[in-house]
Amino acid sequence: MHFQLSEEHIMIQQAARDFAQNELKPGVIERDEHQKFPAEQIKKMAELGFMGMMVSPEYDGAGMDTISYVLVMEELSKVDASASVVMSVNNSLVCYGLEKYGTEAQKEKYLKPLARGEVIGAFCLSEPEAGSDATSQHTTAIDMGDYYLLNGTKNWITNGSSASTYLVMAQTDASKGSHGINALIVERGMEGFTIGPKENKLGIRGSDTHSLMFSDVKVPKANRIGEDGFGFKFAMQTLDGGRIGIAAQALGIASGAFELATQYAKERKTFGKPIANHQAIAFKLADMATQIEAARLMVLKAAWLKDSGQSYAQASAMAKLYASEVAMQTTIEAVQIHGGYGFVKEYHVERLMRDAKITQIYEGTSEIQKVVISREVLR
Ligand code: CAA
Ligand code: FAD
Repeated sequence: MHFQLSEEHIMIQQAARDFAQNELKPGVIERDEHQKFPAEQIKKMAELGFMGMMVSPEYDGAGMDTISYVLVMEELSKVDASASVVMSVNNSLVCYGLEKYGTEAQKEKYLKPLARGEVIGAFCLSEPEAGSDATSQHTTAIDMGDYYLLNGTKNWITNGSSASTYLVMAQTDASKGSHGINALIVERGMEGFTIGPKENKLGIRGSDTHSLMFSDVKVPKANRIGEDGFGFKFAMQTLDGGRIGIAAQALGIASGAFELATQYAKERKTFGKPIANHQAIAFKLADMATQIEAARLMVLKAAWLKDSGQSYAQASAMAKLYASEVAMQTTIEAVQIHGGYGFVKEYHVERLMRDAKITQIYEGTSEIQKVVISREVLR
């Protein structure tokens, strides 16, 4: 066992760090304030290969491993978690789902432009009454022979108004429960598909979150992913990997706040010395550093398990559960270390604190991660 990143990993990490400082940091406060989608920044991320990082070059992706992906997610999330969630959904939910389970025709038509970052994808599982309880799908996809008739509402969809390709889970045969759910590829602009207004959010305000309405949308049978009834397993297996991305996002939010707090603690003086020299502050930094290190090891381990073909569902749930709690605690302490300055926008830590909260909620709440972990340990 060795705890050493490869030269390639260090290079991609540095490229992401530079990109975050040079391209994401300018304007991040304004994008947050005005809920402005980082469209220009996402285009540049596509040029760097960040939008289809793990997709094989055969399908126009960058062909990198999950370790590279989490390193990039951490670096971007230190500065702009709104941009990183766009990347996370596109990579680990939409591209991964299509590459792993899609047909050749689906990969040609949908995966390639997504992997090149020319278009953006969305993953649509949650509904007004089916969030944690994801098997209770009310959206229906009635089998009409050569197409499905899609009706219902999806809630909280990241990339809701910026995506072109939507992976939508819907119930075809309620009598079969979760085995009667299908995953369908829905195109923006299909007749009967409308997008609701943008949600006004606490955090990740640059990302666009919308509800989606489907009214008698005709989705060709060729757009179903996998066998009839595979949709719920598709969603769960895809989320197992997605949670590694959100864990890396949480890690980045925590380490971004830690870096800012450390720098500030060295510069800010009270009672004749830098506040870092007050043990109460130094110990906060020690706790933050320790927790971040543990979270980083968990995130990297989950990524390594996935890359080495081993099962990673439990490791990814643990990494997300822990890293998201570290993100919340660390950002609260980073604001505290900044005192009054932490409470205003130009010092960045208040945004990181607001952004941290979502990592405990989406891709399965912390309580749901405990459901997943406890089922595994009790198996
Ligand atoms: N891999 C493969 N199959 C799985 C699975 C997994 N990880 N998890 C469950 N399944 C299978 C089960 O084996 C079962 O199949 P069988 O009947 O053949 O045994 C079937 O799926 C139903 O599973 P459960 O009986 O375990 O279902 P449940 O109702 O108890 O719910 C749950 C399980 C883990 C709580 C699940 O509902 C869940 O993960 N909920 C959270 C949903 C979630 O994470 N949503 C995220 C939306 S996307 C998002 O949020 C993106 C973003 O923000 C950026
Ligand atoms: P509920 O399921 O109603 O949960 C409410 C509370 O009860 C939570 O604390 C929960 O942990 C707890 N709880 C529920 N069941 C249990 C249980 N069995 N045991 C213990 N506690 C439990 N979804 C998508 O499909 N695609 C997306 O792109 C997407 N992006 C999102 C972006 C944002 C900004 C937000 C806010 C949400 C997004 N979601 C997305 C939805 C997200 O995944 C759900 O909000 C989340 O899964 C929780 O579902 P819920 O909001 O319905 O809460």
